[in-house]
Amino acid sequence: MAANEWRRVLVARRLFPEVVERLRAHFEVDYREEDEPLAPALLAERLQGCAGVLVAGTERIDAALLAACPGLRAVCSMAVGFNNIDVPACTAHGVLASNAPGVLTETTADFGFALMMATARRIAESEHWLRAGHWHHWTVDLFAGSDVHGATLGILGMGRIGQAIARRGAHGFGMKVVYHNRSRLPEGDEAALGARYLGLHELLRTADHLVIVVPYTAQTHHLVGAAELALMKPTATLTNIARGGVVDDAALAEALRERRIAAAGLDVFEGEPAVHPGLLAVPNVVLTPHIASASLPTRRAMADLAASNLIAVLTGGMPPTPLNPEVLGGRA
Ligand code: DGY
Repeated sequence: MAANEWRRVLVARRLFPEVVERLRAHFEVDYREEDEPLAPALLAERLQGCAGVLVAGTERIDAALLAACPGLRAVCSMAVGFNNIDVPACTAHGVLASNAPGVLTETTADFGFALMMATARRIAESEHWLRAGHWHHWTVDLFAGSDVHGATLGILGMGRIGQAIARRGAHGFGMKVVYHNRSRLPEGDEAALGARYLGLHELLRTADHLVIVVPYTAQTHHLVGAAELALMKPTATLTNIARGGVVDDAALAEALRERRIAAAGLDVFEGEPAVHPGLLAVPNVVLTPHIASASLPTRRAMADLAASNLIAVLTGGMPPTPLNPEVLGGRA
């Protein structure tokens, strides 16, 4: 690669102009000001001559793309979830990959809690009913849902966002908090959060409101399927703000249709933006288009962090949130 090509980067999606300007102070920027993600072959084509790329959580960065783009040195994502990036393949190709943890924790936890509350209190379902002109009189059990305060909050995945949700539940709403995670938290952290560790099946049996926040990996694919849903209380709710694919959406649609659980709140879907038709057909589910981190200040901070990573990697610095820092060797 010619020396000047270290200065060329691709911004693969429409972004905040000020973030693009920041990049322009360091690089020649190919800014693709569009919202549709690029198909893999077109992305590989567009990356020829680029040393770095700023992506969202949707562009697939795999071994085939990396092999087709030998000049690439940095893949910087503005998402915290990085199931779209094959990190070992990046490492094998000497490409630094980064994600955007931390800056979206509280915003995403706010949304997870809001979606759980909307689900428990049937907010979307009742709003649709009202807009359709069905409200003629007061009824003793009109859209009566379940309580959030004082209930048992089950958290599946106790990383930063899971812990931020636990704090809201335990300290804000007097909830009993139980959780399951690949590794148990230190005792002091559990005490501070007011959270009790349970095995997965026990968590499913115990939770009044289950909130899913695990990363999507081969191990968490369909972690909650028909067998797991069958363990939940018929009055329970399930909220998924993790990734589509952690929950088996077909099995969930069936459980909701048969009222084997009370309701669900879903911000993520298998194969999104497509949504399983069974989910669209039932009233007891709140559906949102993957917007858990979508407050303007937070989305700006995510994009800014991705830009900081890109600038650092390609100008000889240390990126703030690398996924495979070993690629940079002894860079300090
Ligand atoms: C993330 O950052 O992983 C959120 O899901 C937004 O894509």
